Amino acid sequence: MSAQQQKFWSHETLEKNVGWLIVATIIVVSIAGLVQIVPLFFQHSTTQPDPGITPYSPLRLMGRDIYIREGCVGCHSQQVRTLQAETERYGHFSTAGESVFDHPFLWGSKRTGPDLARVGGRYSDDWQRVHLRNPRDVVPESVMPSYPWLEKTPLATDSVQARMHALKRLGVPYTEDEIAHAPEALAGKTEEDAMVAYLQGLGINRRNVRIDGAPAKE
Ligand code: HEC
Repeated sequence: MSAQQQKFWSHETLEKNVGWLIVATIIVVSIAGLVQIVPLFFQHSTTQPDPGITPYSPLRLMGRDIYIREGCVGCHSQQVRTLQAETERYGHFSTAGESVFDHPFLWGSKRTGPDLARVGGRYSDDWQRVHLRNPRDVVPESVMPSYPWLEKTPLATDSVQARMHALKRLGVPYTEDEIAHAPEALAGKTEEDAMVAYLQGLGINRRNVRIDGAPAKE
């Protein structure tokens, strides 16, 4: 085919013209991206909470925010992948419906320590406390830092309502009544109490209820 005969709407135009090639690539990749991403906003499995997933109690919410403040996510992921080695070690793989109330989510990507998505109930409250104060008291070879100040720091009660209001705006179904009574639930608690409450609730929905709603055997 000579240059004159070549039609504009041909593959050759794209192959010989880097500008059109870039434009066409962007269009194709965008469509492919939208096809994958848009349905996720409408699928129940990604937008509705799994059975047993409820908004964080005020105490657990504060614990979660301390977890963020202390940078625990830098060493601990909270997502069990769909690999046999992971499900045998940690339990059922993570699903989107477990994270619908997590703003921001704490899936993480670094595992200096184990995944914590299913750590709730794996140890006693006392173990968690000792471990937070000095991990080497229970795991001699541990490289996890100590967090002794959590035990000594009273939990702030003045910010919890603002935190809950912010989450409500993002779609977490807190009632005004729950928000009004939140500071009472934190009275007399330490940051360590909040952290332990947070950790002990992680992933327990999988222990108590199965995804199809039937009681779990795990
Ligand atoms: C420098 C990396 C590092 C940081 C930061 C870190 N951890 Fe760890 N964590 C580890 C390692 C390594 C282990 C495994 C050894 C052990 O149990 O202490 C571990 C273990 C744990 C375990 C026991 C998990 C299991 O299944 O046995 C919990 C719970 C835990 N960490 C919570 C936390 C919390 C909460 C924070 C933040 C306050 C935190 N970690 C910060 C490295 C870290």
